Amino acid sequence: MKIIKAKDYNDMSRKAANIISAQVIMKPDCVLGLATGSTPIGTYAQLADWYQKGDLDFSNVTTVNLDEYKGLTRDNDQSYYYFMNHHLFGRVNIDLKRTFLPDGTEPDSEKACREYDQIITNVGGADLQLLGLGHNGHIGFNEPGEAFEADTHCVTLAESTVEANQRFFASKEDVPRQAYTMGIRTIMQAKKILVVVSGADKAAIVKTAFFGEITPQVPASVLQLHNDVTIVADEAALSEVER
Ligand code: F6R
Repeated sequence: MKIIKAKDYNDMSRKAANIISAQVIMKPDCVLGLATGSTPIGTYAQLADWYQKGDLDFSNVTTVNLDEYKGLTRDNDQSYYYFMNHHLFGRVNIDLKRTFLPDGTEPDSEKACREYDQIITNVGGADLQLLGLGHNGHIGFNEPGEAFEADTHCVTLAESTVEANQRFFASKEDVPRQAYTMGIRTIMQAKKILVVVSGADKAAIVKTAFFGEITPQVPASVLQLHNDVTIVADEAALSEVER
């Protein structure tokens, strides 16, 4: 596990974007596994900026996102489809036909999940998977539990996740309670993993997840077993580790 220390959020975003852009330059037809949430927003802004300056070309890139809320339509501004279009896809020359997320509008969970696994298999899995880190150690929407779930599955969000996501919705009642998420095995099958973490509120979970016991109670702890993980974290997020 390689840890890259960034000064602050902007520095973290730039360093993470550098790693993603290196991947795209080295393999223009690569598959990027992407994440939503607030942490990667600056990374996507940086990538879009480099694209606009002519330094990056996404025309042959394929993307598979980690997760999507169940029940939200693509034009709902809280859907992850909308998020990705707003922060990245709509700002670069990516072919939208090569951008994939679980289908949140599919009410049949089993069907939605098997179809998404098939898509990931068809594109050959991610060359580089970008991850954020939840306060409870979740990655994607793999919440703490009794076992690591392998494949794409439907999850009922932990109360703490609903509360954390509440800030994006008009009220807590509007936060969807279920989501489709890529499973842990699929995440672990990515050739490279890049985790972005920012802020003092993540300091405790950074220490627990990356320096503590490997347990499904802290889903991100499984990343300790992957042989190519880079964590780009700012000083605040690393403050507990250094102590
Ligand atoms: C997003 C995702 C989540 C977030 C995590 C951290 O696709 O799967 O695991 O990465 O909840 O979210 P932020 O970045 O908002 O702190």
